[in-house]
Amino acid sequence: MREIHEKAYAKLNLSLDVVGKRSDGYHDMRMVMQTVSLCDELRLVLRHDGKINVTSDVHFLPCDERNIAYKTAKAFFKRIDRTDLGVGISIKKHIPVCAGMGGGSSDGAAVLRSLNTLLGKPLTAAELEELGMTLGSDIPFCICGGTSLAEGRGEILTGLTPLSDCHIVICKPRFSVSTPDLFKRLDSCDLRYHPDTPGLISALDSQDLSGVSRRMFNVFEDVLPPNMNKISEIKSLLLDKGALGAVMTGTGSAVFGIFDNKSRAYGAKAELQKHYRDVYIAVPKKKIGI
Ligand code: C5P
Repeated sequence: MREIHEKAYAKLNLSLDVVGKRSDGYHDMRMVMQTVSLCDELRLVLRHDGKINVTSDVHFLPCDERNIAYKTAKAFFKRIDRTDLGVGISIKKHIPVCAGMGGGSSDGAAVLRSLNTLLGKPLTAAELEELGMTLGSDIPFCICGGTSLAEGRGEILTGLTPLSDCHIVICKPRFSVSTPDLFKRLDSCDLRYHPDTPGLISALDSQDLSGVSRRMFNVFEDVLPPNMNKISEIKSLLLDKGALGAVMTGTGSAVFGIFDNKSRAYGAKAELQKHYRDVYIAVPKKKIGI
């Protein structure tokens, strides 16, 4: 096989807690992560000249060594000691950029899965996750996805009961939030509230969608810069339109709401589209087999 088409699914944080600061400058996290159907589309063609070439339909994304797909491909060939190989990667972006939805991490994870398949699976899923960790904290989760508790920097993964069927309305306002800045803001204050992670996990276990939605919480919402009140406006609109719960994902700026009723979800989408360009409907995705 020389060519492969692969989907890179977005992730959402059903909960996000920061539980400590580490000596390496990173933070210890406790997050319930969920893969959703919104995805980028990748096409990879193996080359035998040691060259890596990335193209994308989004003009502002760098396609050189700064691109995560480029970096993961380079790291993969080095890891398997095949720097004689190269790859052409074209990316059709659908996941909004700088949204807290793991768009870049998911592309990186899709490159690792695809190259591993193209080359006859030289690495196990655990080895791919270990390699992914050296390239970005969310990549290990994005390798197999599904519903998981992610701890440590994001690499200690425990599979959870999959989220029940639902419709998820996602809205990405035009501004974005800098991830390192938000971590700095968090370091300079005492967090007042934390998510009830065990309660959320129990609600997943009992397939209690309202229980899950009620417990969705992201500590970063408490340390957002003051000019970001659009986040709470979007949450209020989602709740007014019938969401069982609404929360910001990752370090934002995308916000999502969970609906148990399809027509209410489409109603909320239509309402949000009056004010925002980037509004999506997605459904939960199960774990990807490697
Ligand atoms: O690993 P990644 O490149 O995704 O992280 C981006 C930035 O987010 C890091 O440079 C760091 O400032 C912050 N971060 C953190 N603790 C984590 C994950 C990310 O402080 N567990």
